[in-house]
Amino acid sequence: MSVTQSLSDKISGLLETGVVGLDVGASAIKICQLTKQGKSNYILKNFGYRPLAEGAFSDSGVEKMEDVVEALKESFKSAGMKGRQVCFGIGGQQVVLRKMKSPKGKRSEIEDQVAWEAEQFIPFGADNSVVGIHVLGPADKDNVNVIMAAGKLDYIQSCEETIKQAGLVPKILDLQFLALINIFEISYSELIQDLGKGTLLIDFGAQFTKIIVYKEGAPLLARSIALGGITVTEEIQKEIGLTFQEAEDLKLTRDEQGNFPEEIAPILARCREDIVKNIVDSISFYTTQSAQDKVYNCFITGGNLQLPGLIEELTTALNLTVEILDPLRKIKVKKKLPDDLLDQLTYIASVPIGLALRSFDIPIKDK
Ligand SMILES: Nc1ncnc2c1ncn2[C@@H]1O[C@H](COP(=O)(O)OP(=O)(O)OP(=O)(O)O)[C@@H](O)[C@H]1O
Ligand SMILES: [Mg+2]
Repeated sequence: MSVTQSLSDKISGLLETGVVGLDVGASAIKICQLTKQGKSNYILKNFGYRPLAEGAFSDSGVEKMEDVVEALKESFKSAGMKGRQVCFGIGGQQVVLRKMKSPKGKRSEIEDQVAWEAEQFIPFGADNSVVGIHVLGPADKDNVNVIMAAGKLDYIQSCEETIKQAGLVPKILDLQFLALINIFEISYSELIQDLGKGTLLIDFGAQFTKIIVYKEGAPLLARSIALGGITVTEEIQKEIGLTFQEAEDLKLTRDEQGNFPEEIAPILARCREDIVKNIVDSISFYTTQSAQDKVYNCFITGGNLQLPGLIEELTTALNLTVEILDPLRKIKVKKKLPDDLLDQLTYIASVPIGLALRSFDIPIKDK
């Protein structure tokens, strides 16, 4: 599913070389390269991970350019990543993804119509954005369904500039939301075929909790809630009086039985309640009995899903089956990766793999 226009223009010619999926999150850089055997056998050829210093990358874009450039260079070098062309995913509240209807017509007419209507959905203004569309197909006799993707211009420029400074080529611009949909569709293709029902996808990140209501190949809702693992760490920091790093270390501490420190239990409980409440509020329309687009199941990803008790709390609040999205369900790992990284891939690899999957997209114009 190729969305932005620039994406479809840029993607031609990539099929031989492939791109490195680049996910710059608030806590770390994750990079991934895939190859394909036969029609649909994907192989994870390489994966790299590099933590980012606190505050290096935020919702406004790159805050500490030198730190991020250095981390990018290091991540490519230490992973021995082949290839410099990247597909990078933007996310957070500087991004809008929306399913819309537009009157049938030529692509240029649909683009004009969407651009005109998009203004009301883009909080940072269409003039200050990169906007792209993907036509899904007929909605009814007179209209087509369209996905509109928009990202704030200066945010995108700050990412592109940083990528170039690191000696890389920003070949494809993508959305983290779409990368998540991509990996979900590939990993659970058999489920999607018989579903025709809404699925809730959640990425529990460090800065944002991203939610998507997905149905029949399209996002009905895509939203970023400004709560994540960093919020939890900051609460511990404030309450116990520690530095950010000390609070983060304390949060991740487990004894031999896997128990976390007793003194942070009430803080963790409060944070997960807050996150779950915000999710429930955001999707309440899709969980009501009568909603036509009701969600029937939920797949989750992201490092912060390891917050103790979160899955149980979410399951109860949503009254749905909640399953951890396994990004390696259909993808073989060929590279020897460090054990601790391999253990974490289940949680953190969905978005970077989804971005790397762009290597195998077919240009829209050739479809
Ligand atoms: N075992 C754990 N228990 C609790 N939290 C954890 C655990 N492991 C990782 N985390 C938290 O998960 C977060 C990192 O997750 P992830 O890598 O998905 O975020 P990100 O992609 O950097 O952030 P974003 O997508 O919001 O930009 C950190 O805040 C980290 O503290
Ligand atoms: Mg992330």
